Amino acid sequence: MDWGMSNRMAQLIKPDGHCFYLAIDHGYIMGATSHLEKPGKAFAQVEKYVDAAFLTRGILRSSIDPATNTPMILRVSGGASVVGATLADEEVAISIDDIVRLNVASVGVSVFVGTEYEHQTLMALAQLINECEPYGIPVMAVTAVGKELETKKEARYLTLACRICAEYGARVVKTYYCDDFEKIVYGCPVPVVIAGGPKTDSVLEVLQFVYDGIQKGAAGVNLGRNIWQNECPEGVARALQAVIHENARPKEANEMFLAMKNQKA
Ligand code: 5RP
Repeated sequence: MDWGMSNRMAQLIKPDGHCFYLAIDHGYIMGATSHLEKPGKAFAQVEKYVDAAFLTRGILRSSIDPATNTPMILRVSGGASVVGATLADEEVAISIDDIVRLNVASVGVSVFVGTEYEHQTLMALAQLINECEPYGIPVMAVTAVGKELETKKEARYLTLACRICAEYGARVVKTYYCDDFEKIVYGCPVPVVIAGGPKTDSVLEVLQFVYDGIQKGAAGVNLGRNIWQNECPEGVARALQAVIHENARPKEANEMFLAMKNQKA
């Protein structure tokens, strides 16, 4: 691996083998999502606890201080929205010139295996990898299921989808946590990062599934709504950092969250 790729991978995966990414890319399909109307603010309030942020070109340029030391993972796929017919009809929306110009640590692209758009999104992944590898830019593949495919959040399907993305050359794969998660990790030769989902009833629930995922071999998480939709995002982020990087148990980390929340109140 050349120095540039090694350097970027070291920004993505910390020396303990783990990672904590803040997802603030939702606007590219969901518009001004609740509590993410100001993505720069959502990032700033938890920046010191996260290893990287996952976001779009428009938000990076408009809302993130270029002096930041936090690595950026650029969402480069697009072409669909929550009010359209399907989320799966995506292509790569950003040129390699702009990816290089933005000096990002990585790029992320969604792949919709098993849908009508399987071929299109897999070839978009392949093309993106072809263009990014010569510049030492790692591609993170996102195994997306779309709004019509909730039932695909299970190990058999996700093991297949993650392995396919790794076979194409993705350096990191982001997927969902599910029962038998260890099977996904076992069949995937590159780091597997857990995506979040809608806000859960309690922070403890999030800490528990992240803890379980790490125990089953996940490298870390890419989480959004469960952080910035919480009344104390700093507390959730600090608690997640403790689970991911300090081997804290969910209940112990939840105490950290509660202490920060009470202090803020
Ligand atoms: C949305 C995404 C998000 O990055 C991913 O879903 C994580 O965010 P959340 O925890 O809110 O689900 O890919 O486009």
